[in-house]
Amino acid sequence: MKIYISGFGSVSRAMIELIIKKQTDYIRRYQLELKVVGLIGRHGLLEDQNGLNLETLLRYDSGSAGIHAYAMNEGLSIQTDYIFHGDVLVEAAPTHQEHGEPGYGYMKQALTQGLDVVALSKGALVHHYNELMSMANEYGQIIQYSGAVAAALPTLDVGRYCLAGTTISGFEAILNGTSNYILSEMMDTGKSFADILLQAQEKGIAETNPSLDVEGIDSANKLALLANSLLETSSSFQDVSLKGIEDLTSVDLTEALRKGQKVRLVARAKVENDQVTLSVKPEYLSTTHPLSTVHGTNKGILFSTEEIGELFVSGGASSPVGAASAAIKDIINLTKLKD
Ligand code: HSE
Repeated sequence: MKIYISGFGSVSRAMIELIIKKQTDYIRRYQLELKVVGLIGRHGLLEDQNGLNLETLLRYDSGSAGIHAYAMNEGLSIQTDYIFHGDVLVEAAPTHQEHGEPGYGYMKQALTQGLDVVALSKGALVHHYNELMSMANEYGQIIQYSGAVAAALPTLDVGRYCLAGTTISGFEAILNGTSNYILSEMMDTGKSFADILLQAQEKGIAETNPSLDVEGIDSANKLALLANSLLETSSSFQDVSLKGIEDLTSVDLTEALRKGQKVRLVARAKVENDQVTLSVKPEYLSTTHPLSTVHGTNKGILFSTEEIGELFVSGGASSPVGAASAAIKDIINLTKLKD
């Protein structure tokens, strides 16, 4: 499997590390050799049909200067329009919340050139879901995007595959590890919002612009994508009624603790009379609610179905390696979907 990766941040690096570490496992368990043949960094495309030297690549900083130097050393050219010679593009570039670029452009180029796409970034899908899915269909390619819908917490695959024989009548979820970490730590340790956010940034889980986490925008993006996939909506971020955690005070949290409640940022999809409503907001949960048990950087999702009642999945802490493993899962499953 010849892989291109767009973006060279903490998740791309974690993915390269995983491939180096687990390559023999993947070959033994899935008869699948993962070969990274191209990488798009800030200065352009690094490419080698025989596979890039991953150990060398990891020695450079995420900063584009390292990639640029590597490209020059290898005598590779820098270009802006890409011709891909591979099987799958892993889209992990930081995408713009307003329009989903540059990931949108990379994904379109890959699909039209016969590559499947594994999306880790949300931006392009959130803004252009229908167009990208139609394009994939037209070109006979597949877009997998576990990494864009809570990554290490399986949400989409559980809904799509495990609940395939049921009708999902709604779900409620904690989809953002950073805000859950902030809320849990504020309630458990009394540390300040700013200090805990800094820790989340050090763990490499906060968005480049952390207001996307704390204002609930990251959760809303994931919720819209999940509703599109599992509840057949055509939702985008604008369709989500949204309130983040930025205005919660330590007094609010202390009061919740006194009442034996947990405050969690809950993303909710509700189906009523064939209408789907989407919301993200802080909720005061009693300790009997399954989502109240989701702690720290973990996430969780509680599905309601007509046939099997409720199903709760939790864990899947946000982390670069967790997101990378979700992308590798998508690549492994691509090969099955293609059979
Ligand atoms: N910033 C996200 C989180 C990770 O905190 O869960 C990427 O989706």
